[in-house]
Amino acid sequence: MAKKFRQAEVNIGMVGHVDHGKTTLTKALTGIWTDTHSEELRRGITIKIGFADAEIRKCPKCGKYSTSPICPYCGAETEFERRVSFIDAPGHEALMTTMLAGASLMDGAVLVIAANEGVMPQTREHLMALQIVGNRNIVIALNKIELVDRETVMKRYREIKEFVSGTVAENAPIIPISALHGANVDVLLAAIEKFIPTPKRDPDKPPKMLVLRSFDVNKPGTPPEKLIGGVIGGSIVQGKLKVGDEIEIRPGVPYEEHGRIKYEPITTEIVSLQAGGRFVEEAYPGGLVGVGTKLDPYLTKGDLMAGNVVGKPGQLPPVWEELRLEVHLLERVVGTAEELKVEPIKRREVLLLNVGTARTMGLVTGLGKDEVELKLQIPVCAEVGDRVAISRQVGSRWRLIGYGFIKE
Ligand code: GTP
Ligand code: MG
Ligand code: MG
Repeated sequence: MAKKFRQAEVNIGMVGHVDHGKTTLTKALTGIWTDTHSEELRRGITIKIGFADAEIRKCPKCGKYSTSPICPYCGAETEFERRVSFIDAPGHEALMTTMLAGASLMDGAVLVIAANEGVMPQTREHLMALQIVGNRNIVIALNKIELVDRETVMKRYREIKEFVSGTVAENAPIIPISALHGANVDVLLAAIEKFIPTPKRDPDKPPKMLVLRSFDVNKPGTPPEKLIGGVIGGSIVQGKLKVGDEIEIRPGVPYEEHGRIKYEPITTEIVSLQAGGRFVEEAYPGGLVGVGTKLDPYLTKGDLMAGNVVGKPGQLPPVWEELRLEVHLLERVVGTAEELKVEPIKRREVLLLNVGTARTMGLVTGLGKDEVELKLQIPVCAEVGDRVAISRQVGSRWRLIGYGFIKE
């Protein structure tokens, strides 16, 4: 009998330092290797955000969790718990803003720490990113345990306890695993079920999708009458989208006016919808959603639409060309090997801002007590009160130095 397709209902991030095993763990849990781009394969690192869905299932006989219809531990038929989407983030320090865009879509996260290396700079920076976007549902996977002896596992456990003390991950369980050998993933899944609940959603709220990618799916040389409209990929954070819906996209598409680049919101119609890789009539929060539109594919090629927000015409948050933020600076730059002090923000300084999946530069035009005003290079569509991650160039890289809330 054909099973009814269910869309994933929750997004679970895979975060942590480079090479600590996020993609390998995603593969162990979903069967999917999310590093598919040629540069990812060549360099052996994750560069783009990857999505991979799995059904979490429980065995009624032995009580263990797995992602398989037949229990790998006792052979009984398992029962469906829920469908989840893993968001595999890059760990390389140069890809921090990509990680931040992914973090804005995560309802919870698995912080992967390799037992042979322990807590590293991007372990700290990713945990800080989760804290900044307000993510408190965290499970820690102590990975590669087969590479170290028992004493080292105990030592790492104590180090991690100390590291998370006073953070959002203070009470996160620490599960020793080997992603490569699939060892203890049943215990990890049990922890995910317990510590990363599906958020309560209100399907009647106006829809909001944050755009991570966009494509032109046509082969070069396709005749104009056969062209398929632009496709936009992202995750719905609120409400639902249906085939046939009129949608608005903000801040929209760039155009030039008097030598300056401006952005104009654009409206179109949803002609097709994909969720978890299948065509659907309606799509909800959870996992990667692909929206087929009537847009000129020229506008959507090569991720041009990334950072936009999709919703119903007239129901989206405002677009800001300037932002006033209530600012909270970190004491130290956590992403570097030696933790430098975070200097106060200066007038005329250029900062990198992440707002949802959008990334923009902001020139500091005004400073107040715990407040900063910025003129943005690319406008952002966001709600008053939304969180903004703030990075500064330290040496040759952008480093997280704090966060802010959008003020009126
Ligand atoms: P980035 O996405 O680039 O940050 O890396 P990642 O965290 O996704 O790490 P990835 O899964 O690509 O694994 C990095 C290396 O560690 C690969 O060679 C994996 O085979 C290896 N690895 C991952 N998990 C384990 C494990 O449990 N044991 C051992 N021995 N090796 C592992
Ligand atoms: Mg990876
Ligand atoms: Mg890797």
